[in-house]
Amino acid sequence: MKITVIGGGPGGLYFSLLAKKRWPDWQIDVYERDPIDNTFGFGVVFSDETLGTFKQYDTPSYEAIRRSFAYWGEVDVHYKGKVLRYDGNGFCGTSRFTLLRLLRDRAAEVGVDIHYQRDVKLEDFPDSDLILVADGINSGTRTRFESHFGTRIDFRPNKFIWMGSTKPLESFNYFFKETPHGAVVAHCYQYEPGKSTWIGEMGQHVYDGFGFEHMGEEEALARMEEIFADELDGHKLQSDILAWRNFPHITNDTWVMGNAVLVGDAKASAHYSIGSGTKLAMEDSIALYEALKQHGTVPEALREYDTTRREEVERIQHAALVSLGWFEHMDTHFSLEPEQFAFSLMSRSKQITYENLRLRDARSIDRIDDWFAKDLASKGYAVDTAAPVPPMFQPIGIGGMQLANRVVVSPMAQYSAVDGNTTDWHFVHYTSRAMGGAGLVFAEMTCPTLDGRITPGCTVLETEEQMAGWKRIVDFVHTNTPAKMCMQIGHAGRKGSTQLGWEESDVPLKQGNWPIMSASPIPWVEGVNQVPREMTRADMDAVTERFVNSTGLADKAGFDMVEAHMAHGYLLASFISPATNRRTDEYGGSVENRMRFPLEVFRAMRAAWPASKPISVRLSATDWVEDGLSEDDLRAVAEMLIEAGADLIDVSAGQTVPDQKPVYGRMFQTPFSDFVRNETGAKTMAVGNITTADQVNTILASGRADLVALARPHLANPYFTLQAAALYGHEQTQWPNQYLTAKNQAMVLAGREREELIELKLASRPGTHEVKAEETAEAAE
Ligand SMILES: Cc1cc2nc3c(=O)[nH]c(=O)nc-3n(C[C@H](O)[C@H](O)[C@H](O)COP(=O)(O)OP(=O)(O)OC[C@H]3O[C@@H](n4cnc5c(N)ncnc54)[C@H](O)[C@@H]3O)c2cc1C
Ligand SMILES: Cc1cc2nc3c(=O)[nH]c(=O)nc-3n(C[C@H](O)[C@H](O)[C@H](O)COP(=O)(O)O)c2cc1C
Repeated sequence: MKITVIGGGPGGLYFSLLAKKRWPDWQIDVYERDPIDNTFGFGVVFSDETLGTFKQYDTPSYEAIRRSFAYWGEVDVHYKGKVLRYDGNGFCGTSRFTLLRLLRDRAAEVGVDIHYQRDVKLEDFPDSDLILVADGINSGTRTRFESHFGTRIDFRPNKFIWMGSTKPLESFNYFFKETPHGAVVAHCYQYEPGKSTWIGEMGQHVYDGFGFEHMGEEEALARMEEIFADELDGHKLQSDILAWRNFPHITNDTWVMGNAVLVGDAKASAHYSIGSGTKLAMEDSIALYEALKQHGTVPEALREYDTTRREEVERIQHAALVSLGWFEHMDTHFSLEPEQFAFSLMSRSKQITYENLRLRDARSIDRIDDWFAKDLASKGYAVDTAAPVPPMFQPIGIGGMQLANRVVVSPMAQYSAVDGNTTDWHFVHYTSRAMGGAGLVFAEMTCPTLDGRITPGCTVLETEEQMAGWKRIVDFVHTNTPAKMCMQIGHAGRKGSTQLGWEESDVPLKQGNWPIMSASPIPWVEGVNQVPREMTRADMDAVTERFVNSTGLADKAGFDMVEAHMAHGYLLASFISPATNRRTDEYGGSVENRMRFPLEVFRAMRAAWPASKPISVRLSATDWVEDGLSEDDLRAVAEMLIEAGADLIDVSAGQTVPDQKPVYGRMFQTPFSDFVRNETGAKTMAVGNITTADQVNTILASGRADLVALARPHLANPYFTLQAAALYGHEQTQWPNQYLTAKNQAMVLAGREREELIELKLASRPGTHEVKAEETAEAAE
């Protein structure tokens, strides 16, 4: 085998040494265009977990890495004059220069031929069996063949710059600064004694405000030194390739072209805020090496690499996108108090949660619980600040409604109504969810009229009879549980007159369809659904009047809160989204115009609803399509609703157009709740693939929402909250008297289960790779 490697970065070198070690007969040549020891950059970081992997594959290079790296366990968040420390993180850093030198030495030791100052291209190697394209983030090879690789580069909006300093740092540090132009952060860590990496980052508006665009290198560094004067403590900043850049998020549809294969940054980039570019490049090399070990031929091995490695890379890239998104919204998070801000930062990429942070550093969780309780106490809540409970069990007031905890049963259509009337199904379904301990239980989308239904199984709240059905449920809940109930009122619009949820969802009825209407005459699916009639002013008046009627009946039924359903593409949502509202009158066009009718309905509902009771609005924060609702639109929509008297914004997403491209994942809609809450100051509810008590606590502790709604998990387990209370030993959560004998048993069993789980997790934690003092002494001997 003759293997050529283009690029002598960590990706190229690590593959070469692994392959040469295993197959000494293979000829492996690495071509690097720069001179030896001439590299850009400052430090690189690895986690304990990554070091564990390196140990498995090549002990000598692992040992060399381990011994030359600076090691730290703490992350310090500096913000508004406070330092919030998070321990137990297990990271190490060294200079890129040192890492490359030791990988190069090890590669040469096992027999790899490395050629420096050789700027090469694919065509230079017609007789190679395999060509590794490891030529970095600006890969010339990938660029030349980008249509083959299906390259996509998304330049992110924030500006950043890599810098170095002589400032010694004992831990990983985030220095956040409020400047007259907005938020600036430096991500900083020491990689060798007296040498630290400083990555400066800010939004475009801040960059423009400072006028960095027009500054030369010296002036720009001097300005950054001024911003971080306290932190630098007299030390200078330097930059070897001074360039403000926008981070390129790079993906490729395929990584293979004939016998050439992309690895490392050339193939996919990962934002520095998850510190994984070098790790990714070296793990790519491991994956390719494994594929070659398992498959006899190069094409088979490359196919394997391109499929099996992809999943992990996409997972990391997704985490990186979520993480960089947090920094893109730094200004938004500046409304948070230091404790919550720091927790929000730490939990940004979803890898770190309330529970796994407790395993790393229990004090940091005690600190956030403590802050959460004291913050509530300062707002007049009677909470225990001496022994604070996890955030999910903390009370909250929404308008005049007091909730015992922050878990919510999200609205879920049951498709089991008869002529809009609730049935025994609804009685059993809702009362059992309320008995399960959630602080608030939502009724399903209930329509103001029969022809406003999604399906013939949807509930309606138009008549006294329909009201009485709901009243029976609400009365039972209020008599037997501490739960509150919210009625969700919504008109189906263009998604109406379709089959039951478990039939062909969103497809018209086989017979008995009724006429439908929407903001614009655009069917849900062309050729499948009815073309809705464009609403006239008379339609608007009639619909508003029926919403008001339902609101009055909801009050009569005893509901504690009412919600206007303005999400998921139904009637009111169809006005809000530019993807579904094509009107040219005063109800279409600008966001103010698009909100005109939904606001009319909302104001009329507010007027018909007792002032002492809260009112909520559910929004789709994004349409998951280009040209859909923008972030600016979302802010404006939320602000208009708050101004009109909304007490809660229930932040959902999507389902407004059928060709949406949602980015699914754990808690995937929560960043929108974070945005609405911290941009507008509104109380928000997060929802969407939130499945564990740990996630609920993470969302609340980080200030991403005030309430957390779970839908599907509550179908499978009505007792989600009681079980979580048992898990956390939260005695105060009220169980129904009839079930009290189960409470003690559940608490004991759950407590035991929790301890076992913690032990298991602690045992499987990656071990530390720090060089111990005695090892250093041994080496000296
Ligand atoms: C200043 C800086 C600091 C960083 N800090 C960190 C960090 O702390 N942690 C982390 O995980 N990641 C960090 N990164 C990212 C990290 O450097 C990359 O993710 C990682 O180096 C990717 O490795 P690679 O082998 O794919 O590419 P690279 O390391 O970029 O190596 C590519 C090599 O190919 C060479 N080359 C390009 N074209 C040719 C050609 N035609 N012929 C021959 N040679 C060619 C280049 O000269 C270069 O040496 C940093 C990046 C920079 C720029
Ligand atoms: C069976 C079912 C019915 C739903 N009906 C409604 C509804 O009536 N109104 C509404 O706003 N959302 C409805 N949703 C959406 C949920 O409230 C929730 O936003 C969504 O399921 C995401 O949460 P989850 O991941 O916890 O399930 C429904 C979801 C399900 C699964």
